[in-house]
Amino acid sequence: MVHVAERTTRIEPTASSVATQRARQLRAEGHDVIALTQGEPDFATPDHVLEAAYKAMKDGETRYTAVGGTAALLDAIRHKFSRDNGLDYAADQVMAANGGKQVIYNALMSTVEPGDEVIMFAPYWVAYVDMTRFAEGVPVVVECDEANGFKVTPEQLEAAITPKTRWIIMNSPNNPAGGVYSADELRALADVLLRHERVMVMCDDIYEHIIFDGLEFATMAQVAPEMFDRTLTLNGVSKAYSMTGWRIGFCGGPAELIKVMSKLQNQSTGNTCSVAQAAAVAALTGPQDLVHERTAVFQRRRDLVVDMLNDAAGLSCLTPKGAFYAYPNCSGLIGRRAPSGQVMQADRDVVLYLMEQAGVGGVHGEAYGLSPHFRISFAASTEELEEACRRIQAACQALA
Ligand SMILES: Cc1ncc(COP(=O)(O)O)c(C=O)c1O
Repeated sequence: MVHVAERTTRIEPTASSVATQRARQLRAEGHDVIALTQGEPDFATPDHVLEAAYKAMKDGETRYTAVGGTAALLDAIRHKFSRDNGLDYAADQVMAANGGKQVIYNALMSTVEPGDEVIMFAPYWVAYVDMTRFAEGVPVVVECDEANGFKVTPEQLEAAITPKTRWIIMNSPNNPAGGVYSADELRALADVLLRHERVMVMCDDIYEHIIFDGLEFATMAQVAPEMFDRTLTLNGVSKAYSMTGWRIGFCGGPAELIKVMSKLQNQSTGNTCSVAQAAAVAALTGPQDLVHERTAVFQRRRDLVVDMLNDAAGLSCLTPKGAFYAYPNCSGLIGRRAPSGQVMQADRDVVLYLMEQAGVGGVHGEAYGLSPHFRISFAASTEELEEACRRIQAACQALA
């Protein structure tokens, strides 16, 4: 019999992977399901990135590297932070990890003491909660108002901070609701944080480049240089360069923090894949026009999806300002009855109904800490999105 450690009971498989799995299963059974469950661009990794990987393999870049990344990758990361964010990190202030996900894991596991509080803003990316619990920390969830674009206010932040707060986690553009903080809004939050010296900030900027309506991206360490020494700026190639499978995330932060995160990574995965590192160098330092072209495509899809969702009876959808998810409010469906007799009691039921009866896979808002909503990804073709939204509209209409 296998003994399962108590710590593993503090984490769950992510709701999006469970939903994706269910969609696959239904498809295998012959059902027609459009899965808008997953968080990855549907575009191919750019050609010049593939070529850099191939060249790296041919050149024998197939061995262990330094834990935090090759010199070339560290240079590319520093170059990216300087070019895009006006942040000048020294070589010992940056590192690469197996996705942004491992950056978060490294950071929390190497700094959170049992009982330390980690403040996150709902709707949040689910991994923050589970990783905090795994590190024996306590997730402190601040619910953000839809009317404020799903963003936290300085007053809400101030009220959430206690002597036990270790981190706050920012995520802009946000997964799942697409909220984007302006430089002024970040500055106002920084003014709160400056009164609380112990608190560190993790800025999850993974969707930096997927930002709409001409908005300008801003991050905490840039708008509040006084926060530089206690801010971990996290990014990666997954979303901007359609490289989710390559597993390269990276970060910039205080040298002391990077050192301990690197020590932890040394004892878990070691370095990230050497070939993927070479690919990431090409992505970060090569031509950037494709990133902008693809963002324009995402914006057109967003417009299509938001318009169609707002035309569905019982749904209302705020326009996301970045990332590639819509997060419609489904309070208008709660209490209504499906043709099968099932009553929609929570967003979980709505998502189940849409998946099983309408053939559209989404993820329930409860998983992101803010209900009643659900998340659908618009990283899919226009045809798929149109069909999915038509099905959602019909399914909403069919509720009594
Ligand atoms: C908000 C957010 N942060 C971080 C990540 C991690 O991405 P990766 O590990 O592929 O770099 C994701 C992926 O879905 C995300 O949505």
